[in-house]
This record gives sequence, structure tokens and C-alpha cells, in this order.
Amino acid sequence: MHTRFIIATLVIMQPDRTKCKPAATGAVVPGASASTWRSAAAAALLAAAAGPTAHAQEYPSKPLVIVVPAAAGGPTDTLARNLGVAMGSALKQQMIIDNSGGAGGTIGINKAAKARPDGYTLLLYHIGMSTSPALYRKLPYDTVNDFESIGQVADVPMTLVAKKEMSPRTFSEFLAYAKANQSTLTYANAGIGSASYLCGLLLMSTIQADFTTVPYKGTGPAMTDLVGGRVDFMCDQTTNTTPQIKAGTIKVYGVTSQVRVPSLPEVPTLDEQGLKGFALVVWNGLFAPRGTPKPALDRLVGALQAAVTDPAFKTRLADLGAEPVPVGKATPESLRTLLKSEIDKWGPIIRKTGVYAD
Ligand code: MLT
Repeated sequence: MHTRFIIATLVIMQPDRTKCKPAATGAVVPGASASTWRSAAAAALLAAAAGPTAHAQEYPSKPLVIVVPAAAGGPTDTLARNLGVAMGSALKQQMIIDNSGGAGGTIGINKAAKARPDGYTLLLYHIGMSTSPALYRKLPYDTVNDFESIGQVADVPMTLVAKKEMSPRTFSEFLAYAKANQSTLTYANAGIGSASYLCGLLLMSTIQADFTTVPYKGTGPAMTDLVGGRVDFMCDQTTNTTPQIKAGTIKVYGVTSQVRVPSLPEVPTLDEQGLKGFALVVWNGLFAPRGTPKPALDRLVGALQAAVTDPAFKTRLADLGAEPVPVGKATPESLRTLLKSEIDKWGPIIRKTGVYAD
């Protein structure tokens, strides 16, 4: 601002240089001539007029923060770090990940909702944005009205996985075993409202069984305990499970998408193994606090669209079983519409279970 103002002043004052010495602050010194006041007023008007544009031209002038409402090392963290690289290069700025996990993601979501709306704090979250309004009767933020939508990012299928010591080899063996041992089996997840919690809720109501759930601040730490055999099974996004499945450190019984995942061609869907119609793919969206300046939002939408079409980003996600959205979905309108329809979809399903987080 200061720099720009002086330049503007200098340009205007060219012909009349001898009369005016702009102060370090760019203000006009008392006792200056009428023409000096006029040109200074014109300069001030120019700078004011140039304000948002100046902001847009300079934005971003420092690193941005992406709030991830889940622990480090998990699927949303993995997606955020890859997105940060792709968008960071488009914005020519660093993007820092702030992992704020817990309470099914509502702690991190609230942190982003209350952040300064200056374009430097973003929120990357998923289907959990649409389940918490039904599960939490006292949410400290308004899921729809406290955020600006920037755009959808990627769709991530989930996988039903278990500790490698688990005896069943196939999904149908797992079903029989799980029903027979439901009083002792433990189901890991990232807390009420999270994607892993939602998948568990759907699975339990579909197979009519009830397991002890073990909540974590994210499925990153849950995966550590699953690999260590301290919890029995989990339903989690391929962006977190693929490396462990490929390493053979965990067992996999199926994917939750309606079609097989290219990076895990040998793993059948739960649908094709008899859970007809069972389908859950985790959408992910990028948000900013309500009131973030429009020029910044436009710049972020442009950078997001550059990211979802970035070959390196696409390849990285494909290796982890995920898919960046088509560029037409990396838009504010598309995410806004999706969020509303998902809130309307999951609300009745969740209310029917009678489960509340608070
Ligand atoms: C994570 O990153 O830990 C997950 O997104 C949590 C979840 O929602 O299951």
C-alpha cells in the first residue's frame, strides 16, 4: 500500500515536483499548495480505487495455511500436502498444513470458520462437513454460512481393512466372523462424523451388527494401531490404506466404490461381494472463512483448477486410488451445491440411527 501510494503520487506530481515532498508515510505535508492537495487527493483516490486490485495483484504475499481437521499422516493430510504442492506452485507461495484433529473434524472446521478472512487460511475437508450438522446438536459454527466455497478437490474411495492377524481370508468369511464376534471386535475411526465413522455406521446398519468403536484424532494414528494389531478393523480412504495394503501389513476385504479402484485391481467391491448397493466415495472440498476477499477467492479458484489438471498431482493421487475432480467441479458453485445436497442426504439417514455426538 505505502509503496504504491508514493509511486502514484510521483506520477501525478511530475510537472510540479519542486513544490511537494511526500512524507515517508506518503501523506501530504501541511502548507502545501492547492495543486499539491488536488494531486494528493487524486493519488489517494487512485490508490483507494486500486485497493482491491492492488490486494489481488499482490495476493498472496506470504505463505497460506490449509487447516486439516484430522491428525497428520492420514488421508486428508496426505491429500492436503499434495494439493499444497500443486496449488503452491500455481500461487508461487508456500502452503502450510495445520493439523487440527478431533471431535470428528469439528475442532478444525471451527478453527477455520473463526480464522481471519484475509485469504491466508483455508480449510480442506470432506463428507464430514455434511454429517456433523446432523450429529452435533450444538455446532459452534454454521457449516453453510460461515464458509466461502472454493471448489471440489478429489474423490476418494474407501477400503474395508483389518489387522493382518485377522483369520478370515474373504469378505464373506469376514462377515460371518464379525457377526459371531461382534461383542469383542474393535472398529477404529476418526470420531463421530468422520468418513471412517460414517462408513462404519453404514456397514453396521447394513449387516445388522454392532461393534465397539475406538475413536482417534484421525485415521493416521488409527492405522498405526491397526498395523500394530491393537485394533481389529477399520474402513478408511485409499489415500491412507493403499501403501499398507501393498506392503501386506494389513488385510483388505473390499472397496466401497461401485467399481474397482485402478490402483487396487485385485480388490473386489463390497457391492460385487454381496453388499448390493453399498457405495461410499469420500468427496473433498476446499473452503475459506466467510468474508475472504473476492480477488483472493478468484485467485484460489484459479490455483485449484491448475492443481486438479496438474499431471503430477493426478498421478500422485491415482497411485493412492484417488481421483482429482474434473475442472468443472473445481468451482465455488459446484462445491456449494454438493455441500447442501449432502447435508440433506445424510441428515435423515443419521437421525434415523438416533446417534448424537453431544
Ligand atoms: C483423516 O484424515 O484422518 C480422515 O479423513 C478421517 C476420517 O474422516 O475418517
